[in-house]
Amino acid sequence: MIEANRRNWDERAAIHRRDSTGFYRADAFLAGTDTLLPIEAAEIGDVAGKRLLHLQCHIGLDTLSLGRRGARVTGLDFSPAAIEAAREFAAKSGISARFIESDVYDAPVAIPERFDIVYTTWGTITWLPDVYRWTRTIAALLADRGKLYFLDTHPQVLTLEEENGALVSRNPWRTPAGAPLICEGSVTYTGDPAPLSSRVTYQWIHPLSEILNALIEAGLAIRWVHEHDLLPHRQFRMMIEAQDRMYRLPDEHPPTPLSVSMEAGAGG
Ligand SMILES: C[S@@+](CC[C@H](N)C(=O)[O-])C[C@H]1O[C@@H](n2cnc3c(N)ncnc32)[C@H](O)[C@@H]1O
Repeated sequence: MIEANRRNWDERAAIHRRDSTGFYRADAFLAGTDTLLPIEAAEIGDVAGKRLLHLQCHIGLDTLSLGRRGARVTGLDFSPAAIEAAREFAAKSGISARFIESDVYDAPVAIPERFDIVYTTWGTITWLPDVYRWTRTIAALLADRGKLYFLDTHPQVLTLEEENGALVSRNPWRTPAGAPLICEGSVTYTGDPAPLSSRVTYQWIHPLSEILNALIEAGLAIRWVHEHDLLPHRQFRMMIEAQDRMYRLPDEHPPTPLSVSMEAGAGG
């Protein structure tokens, strides 16, 4: 399943790297614009001088934006095509960064160092079968008094689909490691029409309680949890543009949390 996901991400990374639709704002990034979205930009705080590891960094634009803010950045992703693209963006932008190809779970072996910040956002744990193994991995990567910053689609949102203008519950709220959602898509999400040949992916839904319990079990202290009514993509057709590259539910729909962020600390 992980290998099928990697093949799919390799194909997407090659498409995303050329950014034909402008989804990733690669040209704006190269012209000096920060790619962080408003939630993480407001929550991450001062990163200057910090050793920062960006897990599942994809083509590296957010990693490099954090580098531009003064962090000493390392990006990690299991897709060689994504890592190659990230290195190219680093070279083009002149921002100092290190990019490492590895599965998340192998990160402590691939990078035997400790970090002040482990950063992971938008489209991450849905690709990981075991959230307890994920938090143990993060605990192994954090320096004493280091912190995890996590932001992603709210797990409850992943159970929903839009049908006839209404959101209905269609997926289970938790998926065991051996029983993921099996997803199929012929193109990527950026609007580029290039066909994918590795179309099937395997994804997992981890309930909020499980994410929090896994952090606690790994010995990390949860400092805060925030829920937000915004997403950086149109998860449901009914969603409308909100401010600054974000989307929200229309006014007729009862407000509901669409994303969740949290900070957890190591060693006090
Ligand atoms: C939606 S993207 C994350 C985008 C990211 N927020 C960014 O900064 O652009 C998901 C990334 O996770 C990576 N990925 C998926 N499963 C992984 C795994 N098991 N280990 C490492 N990377 C993985 C994919 O290659 C892809 O680049």
